[in-house]
Amino acid sequence: MKFNHLHEERILILDFGSQYTQLIARRVRESHVYCEIHPFNMTIEAIRDFEPKGIILSGGPSSVYDAGSPISDPAIFTLGVPVLGICYGMQLMAFQLDGAVEPADRREYGPATITVDRPDELFRDVEPDGERVWMSHGDRILRMPPGFAALAQSANSPVAAMADLERSFYGVQFHPEVVHTPCGKAILENFLFRVCRCRSTWTMKSFVESAVQSARERVADNQVICALSGGVDSSVVAVLLHKAIGPRLHCVFVNNGLLRKGEAESVQRVFRDHFQLNLHYLDASALFLERLRGVTDPERKRKIIGNTFIELFEQEAARLSNVKYLAQGTLYPDVIESVSFKGPSATIKTHHNVGGLPDRMKLKLIEPLRELFKDEARLVGRELGLPERVIMRHPFPGPGLAIRILGEITAENLEILREADSIILEEMEASGWYDHVWQAFGVLLPVRSVGVMGDERTYDQVLAVRVVESVDAMTADWARIPYDILAIISNRIINEVKGINRVVYDISSKPPSTIEWE
Ligand code: XMP
Repeated sequence: MKFNHLHEERILILDFGSQYTQLIARRVRESHVYCEIHPFNMTIEAIRDFEPKGIILSGGPSSVYDAGSPISDPAIFTLGVPVLGICYGMQLMAFQLDGAVEPADRREYGPATITVDRPDELFRDVEPDGERVWMSHGDRILRMPPGFAALAQSANSPVAAMADLERSFYGVQFHPEVVHTPCGKAILENFLFRVCRCRSTWTMKSFVESAVQSARERVADNQVICALSGGVDSSVVAVLLHKAIGPRLHCVFVNNGLLRKGEAESVQRVFRDHFQLNLHYLDASALFLERLRGVTDPERKRKIIGNTFIELFEQEAARLSNVKYLAQGTLYPDVIESVSFKGPSATIKTHHNVGGLPDRMKLKLIEPLRELFKDEARLVGRELGLPERVIMRHPFPGPGLAIRILGEITAENLEILREADSIILEEMEASGWYDHVWQAFGVLLPVRSVGVMGDERTYDQVLAVRVVESVDAMTADWARIPYDILAIISNRIINEVKGINRVVYDISSKPPSTIEWE
């Protein structure tokens, strides 16, 4: 494996299957130190090639004595590089360095209190007595390896932290990366700055500089094509690459007629007028609507929309000569997921993206954000001067309003949903709730109910308002929006949107429901 060392100092995180591994990486990045997550079985040659300033071994659900449990190459302890083992990582360290691990009398899960016996480098500036930490383990250290001393203890773990100061090996039984360990940030920073002697050089400003430079070198005289959706990731990619290669970047924005109110205009205003991007705007609303006529099955809707998009995108690319690269807004969590040794979770809905394009079009991929977490991509956007509205925008599905109109999509239904949806967004923004939730939108139901407006009986459609909180869309909970705000939303929609006479609020969590209704 060859690493392009974009960043001068790197921490390596080896993943043993903990649900918290990404959190470790985010904490390290928040301290402005660059790090990457790799699977536990990364070869020692690759690790050497990576040239880490320090190695963090993540936690994991296994026990070191189980057959088939993940074991990394013990040669990592001969590299002369500091190592921090967290939970399973600490037990593995004990196991591989001739200590011993045993099952604890009882599993320790949840909050615990530690007493720090030795405020050495790792616990510098951490309260010696009664620090709250988060434990989640079945095994514990029975005998520390030669050269190690205990640094801290808890009621259930006589060795809650240990170290071989000589060789700079550290282990903590608890999880410093979770918010339930308030001193965790200090502990991780002590490891990064005191033990590994890292400097805080990882900033989005330095990222932009190196990403622009490397894109420029890689693209050389060729042309790059990019599908711009107006979402955060593709917007940041577009503006970043524009900075690198200017008019040799061609952004294709397809108006599929399934967008929100004013979206097509605002994308053109921001990217063509303000950023002066080379924007190819295709208004294909009529074609999409035509192909979707009579279609009610959600997966068929997705397929038709995905295929039509690809077709149009290919046509547009064919008109450009010398296009060699396709730019995509892949983020680091997608990269980790694809190299992770855990099986990916089952796909419930097929999420359309331009995934199939590079092979079909013989294009090479360029993914400038593949090292970044979402919050970092947002910071890059801010660094590049993208408007706050784009940076903080909620995710919007590729098939757009098509999967929010249950049943058949008609021009009339699209118009109704667009109006209602814009009222929801306006009120979410006006009340300050927009930035606190994951998504807020309306769903138009194929149900008519009776109402009364003035003296007239109405028989109109029902709109469901869906507002959810989530961190990654894998799970979500309905947002506890104050009744007063829901009341304003409902009143405005019923009064202002012709065709809707009833508004309901969706109070289902994911799972077992999903965020979208189709
Ligand atoms: P669900 O409905 O599966 O949604 O809970 C999870 C997240 O994915 C978005 N979503 C999609 N995004 N194409 C997309 O690009 C799709 O077909 C699609 N379906 C759902 C959804 O908005 C939520 O953020």
